[in-house]
Amino acid sequence: MGRRPAPGPGAVPLDRHRRTGAGAPRPRGVPARATGPAHRGGADHARPAGRPGTVLVTGGTGTLGGLVARHLVTRHGARNLLLVSRRGSEAPGARELLAELTAPGARATAVACDTADRAAVAALLAGLPADRPLTAVVQAAGVTADDPRWPA
Ligand SMILES: NC(=O)c1ccc[n+]([C@@H]2O[C@H](COP(=O)([O-])OP(=O)(O)OC[C@H]3O[C@@H](n4cnc5c(N)ncnc54)[C@H](OP(=O)(O)O)[C@@H]3O)[C@@H](O)[C@H]2O)c1
Repeated sequence: MGRRPAPGPGAVPLDRHRRTGAGAPRPRGVPARATGPAHRGGADHARPAGRPGTVLVTGGTGTLGGLVARHLVTRHGARNLLLVSRRGSEAPGARELLAELTAPGARATAVACDTADRAAVAALLAGLPADRPLTAVVQAAGVTADDPRWPA
């Protein structure tokens, strides 16, 4: 067996990483404190104020997407939400959902986009403002097997 290379500057011993979460990989724009064991315990510091990035929720105007969007705002301090579905703001309940999300100060937009259309999604992402880059995606778009609009 060869010798292990010396750890580089800032290296975190693996056992410490397991105990504390220090050095754990995390999505761009998510502070370290949001990924450690204390966070998983549900402590209130799950709400860093003013998080700048955009969270994209596909199916964001649907049942699960709406629940996720509310949770992102109230529990994780998300400040910018992009809710995507084919009907966008015309989806039933979308306007009420947007009003609920923006009341505590978040910015939320419902956009009509078919996430199966690669070019449409690329154009959507390209249009994100530079000061609110994409930092997370939650995939909640889907069609339930019993949806009468999409017969098998
Ligand atoms: N609800 C549950 O308890 C549950 C449990 C387990 C699994 N699931 C699964 O989770 C998924 C979502 O369930 P749900 O209850 O939230 O359904 P839902 O209320 O019908 O919401 C689905 C959302 O996905 C959007 N959507 C569908 N196809 C899309 C596409 N090609 N591009 C963009 N948006 C699209 C729909 O909007 P548009 O129609 O306007 O595009 C809608 O906003 C489904 O696949 C379901 O089978 C749900």
